[in-house]
Amino acid sequence: MSISLFLGETCMLERLGKMFSGRQEEHKSNAFDQAGVIPHHVAVIMDGNGRWAKRRNLPRVAGHHQGMKTVKDVVKAADEIGVGVLTMYAFSTENWKRPKDEVEFLMKLPQEFLSTELVELVERNVRIRMIGSREGLPSHTLNALIEAEEKTKNNTGLQLNFALNYGGRDEILKATKEIAQLIAQGKLTPEQIDEETIASHLYTQGIPEPDLLIRTSGEIRISNFMLWQLAYTEFWFTDVYWPDFSREHFIQAIAEYQGRARRYGAV
Ligand code: FPP
Repeated sequence: MSISLFLGETCMLERLGKMFSGRQEEHKSNAFDQAGVIPHHVAVIMDGNGRWAKRRNLPRVAGHHQGMKTVKDVVKAADEIGVGVLTMYAFSTENWKRPKDEVEFLMKLPQEFLSTELVELVERNVRIRMIGSREGLPSHTLNALIEAEEKTKNNTGLQLNFALNYGGRDEILKATKEIAQLIAQGKLTPEQIDEETIASHLYTQGIPEPDLLIRTSGEIRISNFMLWQLAYTEFWFTDVYWPDFSREHFIQAIAEYQGRARRYGAV
């Protein structure tokens, strides 16, 4: 039997108590089933920063900066809800085509985020990992992420992945080359290649596939994100721009996920 949990009521479980402290009024309309399945891995395409800024006559980077604040809120919400893995698509292999100033701004965000948040993330037992190509990233960006990975490597709580300089096709290409190399070296035969072989050569090696993909801003596409991993993921789209996305939206996505029937091709 499942119990419907209405957020904001005093009977909420201790597990969720810290999530809503002082913010009860904001959550009255949201509900998800605390006895139902919480998606273990939630992946997010954070979109709409530029349009959010444009609506306010602000430069695009103001949207990215506000979007970073949303990242903080969503990480905390995911941790408090009991999500196991959260992957945020922060910069794609195609995003290099943007104006130089915008790219430079985006490349500074990981440092800025970690300079203020890493202490709390360590306290929360969060483990940070970067997925994507490390080649071509400015050293200040890469070093901040390596430091965060290092400082959190033994943590056992929420796994927070930043997809940075990440492209699904680039990832599959990389895996293909590595596997071809193993064959050329006589370490593997074509017959031995199975799904696990491919998965183990992706940036997400060791990370379970996403259960739920959230994309903001009204765009209905996956934009080269986790092409292999999303095969059986549930998708949830919202028109809300990423800087306006809140923990209530996150909860709404989880509630809708709980109503989905996942059959993986079976009946
Ligand atoms: C897409 O919106 C968003 C991005 C390319 C960048 C996303 C990055 C963040 C939200 C901050 C990341 C924070 C950390 C800590 C790494 P868009 O600019 O394409 O929006 P638009 O479609 O409205 O123009």
